[in-house]
Amino acid sequence: MNFTLSEEAAEHAAAIESLVDTAFGPARKTRTVYQFRDGIPPLTDLCYVALSNDGDMLGSIRFWPVLMPDGRQEVMLGPLAVLPNLRGQGIGKALVAHGIAGSRAAGFGGVLIVGDRRYYAPFGFREEKVANLDLPGPVAPLTFMGLEFEEGSLSRVDGTVMPYREKAEQAV
Ligand SMILES: CC(C)(COP(=O)(O)OP(=O)(O)OC[C@H]1O[C@@H](n2cnc3c(N)ncnc32)[C@H](O)[C@@H]1OP(=O)(O)O)[C@@H](O)C(=O)NCCC(=O)NCCS
Repeated sequence: MNFTLSEEAAEHAAAIESLVDTAFGPARKTRTVYQFRDGIPPLTDLCYVALSNDGDMLGSIRFWPVLMPDGRQEVMLGPLAVLPNLRGQGIGKALVAHGIAGSRAAGFGGVLIVGDRRYYAPFGFREEKVANLDLPGPVAPLTFMGLEFEEGSLSRVDGTVMPYREKAEQAV
């Protein structure tokens, strides 16, 4: 399967919404990670799509800002989804690798994820990096992980990671 990676554009939004709905089901908005997205714009520079030669959207990865307990901004990966009939052909891995590289280039100290450890561990995501961190709600066991670009950016921080809007509200 030939595909190219590109920054997400407004024209992809409807196809992504439909893809993510199909991939995660209607209950997705009740999950803890959705608190990080509700009413908060994604980091558009870090949102990528995989496109076919004809320009059709085949897969999507998005990143949201999160507020670390020490007041810094870091990023959370997700959602990641690939069209069901095109899975297993490397599109997901290419999107994750591109997103991680983009996050590092943007100067973040690390990336958080709530996801399947078997899928994300090969990229370097580890549970021990977030051993001192909590989320503002429950997640499935062994799914909260971190990848550090700077030693200690996640693992030396203690407390609850909050949606990034909290910072704006605190500043008012
Ligand atoms: C997860 C997903 C994005 C992977 O995309 P993809 O393009 O199929 O993935 P790739 O082709 O790059 O990688 C396929 C590899 O990942 C593995 N894989 C796929 N989903 C996995 C999962 N949930 N857990 C563990 N491994 C998984 C495959 O077995 C395959 O392994 P191999 O390379 O050893 O053969 C895709 O399956 C999807 O959209 N799933 C539904 C949404 C979802 O679960 N998103 C991730 C949330 S954590």
